[in-house]
Amino acid sequence: MDYFPAFLRLDGRNCLLVGAGEVAGRKARLLLDAGAKLTVVAPHCGAFVTELAQTNQLRLVTRNFCASDVSGHRLVIAATNDPAVQHAVSMAAEESGIFCNCVDDPDNSSYITPAIVDRGPIVVAISSGGAAPVLARKIRAQLESLLPASIGRLATVARGWRSKVNERLADAFGRRRFWERVFDGRIAKTLEDGGSNAAHQAIAQLLTEASESPDKKGEAWLVGAGPGDPELLTLRALQAMHIADVILHDRLVSDEVLALGRRDAERIPVGKTPGCKRNSQEQINELLVSLVASGRRVCRLKGGDPFIFGRGGEEVEALVAAGLPYHVVPGITAAAGCAAYSGIPLTHRDASQSVVLLTAHGKDSVDRLDWPSLARDRQTLALYMSVQRFPDVMNNLIAHGRTADTPVAIIENGTTAEQRVIRGSLGQLTMLAEAHNVAAPAMLIVGEVASFGHDQSRWSEDRGLKIKGQTNDLRQHSANYR
Ligand SMILES: C[S@@+](CC[C@H](N)C(=O)[O-])C[C@H]1O[C@@H](n2cnc3c(N)ncnc32)[C@H](O)[C@@H]1O
Repeated sequence: MDYFPAFLRLDGRNCLLVGAGEVAGRKARLLLDAGAKLTVVAPHCGAFVTELAQTNQLRLVTRNFCASDVSGHRLVIAATNDPAVQHAVSMAAEESGIFCNCVDDPDNSSYITPAIVDRGPIVVAISSGGAAPVLARKIRAQLESLLPASIGRLATVARGWRSKVNERLADAFGRRRFWERVFDGRIAKTLEDGGSNAAHQAIAQLLTEASESPDKKGEAWLVGAGPGDPELLTLRALQAMHIADVILHDRLVSDEVLALGRRDAERIPVGKTPGCKRNSQEQINELLVSLVASGRRVCRLKGGDPFIFGRGGEEVEALVAAGLPYHVVPGITAAAGCAAYSGIPLTHRDASQSVVLLTAHGKDSVDRLDWPSLARDRQTLALYMSVQRFPDVMNNLIAHGRTADTPVAIIENGTTAEQRVIRGSLGQLTMLAEAHNVAAPAMLIVGEVASFGHDQSRWSEDRGLKIKGQTNDLRQHSANYR
């Protein structure tokens, strides 16, 4: 971040504007709207600034700028079309330690002004740090159409209740929950349908309810965060991440995903990192239960889907045993994400009629698997947590009848910028993993579909994903199976 975002309080404070043309006029309007005491210095004056001066909204000094003009001002804006004057204003302000913006001239500016969406008192400021002002304006246009016109009025109504709410609801969690209810859409609707009085009445009623029976209930959301790409989060997952007081997250949840959660939510990593002190599942269950029992709203954020090799079932059991409420938010499981981002259809009418999600995590699970049924052709196997067991997978499948030339794909760090796709045949599986130093997290896909994917891989490359290994033409393969 090159610039520190801030909103300045200018009411009653001295501000200086150098220049009095059309652009300066727009700046003058904004400064006056923010309550600034404005002085304008310019040798010539446009119609708009003249009118503001004549109606005593600002003080006009009709002469050239001189360095001493900046003294006594909190903020300076230069909006002239003379680069020498712009530079002189910038130097004078800098010498006096005053923030100065020279319009369209970031090199001479110690601050820049953002594009804004103004629904006073709600103001959204957008900045590209000077890198792409047109993009910032495009974002502003999109936000303009997203934010309802009444949002500013809603904020004004809410402002009138702040001190009363602080008096009546002593507990900070309780206050936050109260305001979340105010802003969850119902009061906005009341405001639109019935006007400010109706909205004030509805808030008063909510406040009475909240102070008579404070909402101290904790809740858990078991949320699937998807396999890595933050754009694969569901809307429901995002909502849960924003409601939460605490985000309890796995190791596989990426920093980009975590960054989308509520900023002031406490984040507790409970990942089972290889080689580090592990949080046992029992410890995680205990922590989850104790947080929810203490009235916190906990987002238990898990990689992929919480109910697919995510031990979500055990966490739900612990919550149910403790009589605590929970919700489950499904996520895109690694098999689906990795397959999609490497162009592999998990099923295909001509090549695979079923898909089996399985793990060959430990020796026990390898021994318990039904290899004769897994070795049947025209099905896809998607293996989780199996990198260490590739030799067992390869040998058992071949021993039970899968041919050694069955296509396989190993997808490491699927859907992330680090994604690698390594393709080959079942008989080469161990060799491929060793040769490419495959490491967790990796998904193994076995079956005819594993050699598909040319088109989709190209799309992934466009998105900056590294795709390694051989790919085949999807259409050609389709033809082979018809
Ligand atoms: C404990 S399981 C969690 C699975 C998760 N609940 C899901 O639905 O995807 C972890 C395994 O999922 C697979 N996995 C998760 N994220 C992955 C990714 N981005 N790329 C490849 N495999 C991934 C790997 O096999 C990894 O060892």
